[in-house]
Amino acid sequence: MRTYSESDWEAVGNFIVSQWGSGHPMLVRRLFDWQFRGFGAEGQGGASLLLFVEGELVGFRGIIPGLYQVPSPRGMQVLPGGSLAMWMLREEFRGRGLGRIMHAEAERLFPVLAGAGSNPETSVPIYLKNGFRLLESMERYLAALDPPACQSLFGNRAAELPRAPVSDKEPPIAPSPCDPAILARIWEGSAFEAGFFSLYRNEEFWRWRILESQGFRYEIFLDPEGAGFAVARLEPLLSSEGAFSVLRLIDLVPARPSTWHAVEDLPFARFLGRCLAWSRETGCIAADFHCTTGVFRPTLARVGFVRERDLSGDGVLPLPRLFNGAQGRGRPINALVKAPGIESFERVYMVKSDNDMDRPRRLDADGNVLY
Ligand SMILES: CC(C)(COP(=O)(O)OP(=O)(O)OC[C@H]1O[C@@H](n2cnc3c(N)ncnc32)[C@H](O)[C@@H]1OP(=O)(O)O)[C@@H](O)C(=O)NCCC(=O)NCCS
Repeated sequence: MRTYSESDWEAVGNFIVSQWGSGHPMLVRRLFDWQFRGFGAEGQGGASLLLFVEGELVGFRGIIPGLYQVPSPRGMQVLPGGSLAMWMLREEFRGRGLGRIMHAEAERLFPVLAGAGSNPETSVPIYLKNGFRLLESMERYLAALDPPACQSLFGNRAAELPRAPVSDKEPPIAPSPCDPAILARIWEGSAFEAGFFSLYRNEEFWRWRILESQGFRYEIFLDPEGAGFAVARLEPLLSSEGAFSVLRLIDLVPARPSTWHAVEDLPFARFLGRCLAWSRETGCIAADFHCTTGVFRPTLARVGFVRERDLSGDGVLPLPRLFNGAQGRGRPINALVKAPGIESFERVYMVKSDNDMDRPRRLDADGNVLY
C-alpha cells in the first residue's frame, strides 16, 4: 500500500472504469487532480492510498488533504487532515480485513479525518467502529423564490415552501470577483474566532475550492456593508431547458462571531435577502443550503428559509435532493468526523462542498458539465 502519485493516473483511471463505470466524472483528469489536490499539502502529489496485490491495483482509498481548525482547551489548533472520498476494493478482495488496513493507514497519516455523504451500508459502519462521530443528515434549508414555477417544476409538494420575502426597497447584490485574502480574513474573525471545528478556510482554501474549481463555477457575494459573504452556484434546471435554476448556497460566512453562537444577525439577513433578490432576477426559482450546525437558523428564517425536516412530515420532499438526473432520489448528506475533542455537530461547520459532495455528476463526451 502506498500513496498516489501522478504516474499512477493510468492505473487509477482503469480502476475507476472497472469499479465505478466509464461515465464516472472523476475520469476527467483535471477534475480528479483538482479534487484530490486539496489544500495545505503543497507540493505533495496527493494523499489517496492505493493497495496493490501482486502488482495489480485492487483498492483505492481516496483522501482529499486539507487543514482543519480544531478547538481545544488551549485555543484553536490547525491540524493536517483528510476528507474521505471514494473508497473501493475489488469485490473478490472484500471482507478479508484489507479495508481495515487501509483505514488504519489513513488514521496513521492524519490526526483529523472527516467524511460527508458516506454510504450508510458499507463505509459508515466501519467509521463508527473506529470512533467517528456521525451526523445522519446535515441540516438542509429551503426557500422558494418563485412559488408558481416551483410547483410547476417540482409538483404540488413544493406548495409547502413559504415564499421568501424579497424587498423591492433593498437593491439586489450581484456576485463579483473577490480576493481570497478578504474571504480568509472574514473567516478568521468569525468562525475561527467563535471556535468552530471546520476545514481551515484560509486564502489557499478559497483559491483551491472555489476560485480554481474544475467542477462548477461558483459565485461570491460580498456584503458592501461588511455583514459577511456567501458562496453559491446556480444550478440550471434541465427540465426547464435552462430557463430556471436553483441557487445552491454553499458557504455562508456571517462576519459577526455572535451569529456563530446562534444570535439572529439582521445585517446578514438583509444581505442574504439582497443576494436572493439578484438570484430571482436571474431566473432562480428556489434556494437551498446544507450545513451541519443549526446556528444560522434564526437568521435564515428571517429571509424565508425553512428546515427541510420541518416540512417533509409525510416523507415527500418539497424540493428534490437532486435537481437533475435522478430527480427526487438521493440520500440526505451525512457527516462524519474523527478529531480530538469533537463531541457534537452544533459547533461543526461542514457544508455541501465538504468531501466530494459538490462536484459534477454527469459530463458530456467533451468533458463539459451537464449537471
Ligand atoms: C467498504 C470496503 C472498502 C471495506 O473493505 P473490506 O476489506 O471489505 O472491509 P474489512 O474486511 O477490512 O472490514 C473492516 C471492518 O468493517 C466491518 N465491516 C465491513 N463491511 C461492513 C458492513 N457492510 N457493515 C458492518 N460492518 C462492516 C468488518 O466486519 C470489519 O470489522 P472488524 O475490523 O471489527 O473486523 C469494501 O467493502 C468495498 O469496497 N465496498 C464497496 C464500495 C463501498 O461501498 N465503498 C464505501 C462507500 S464510499
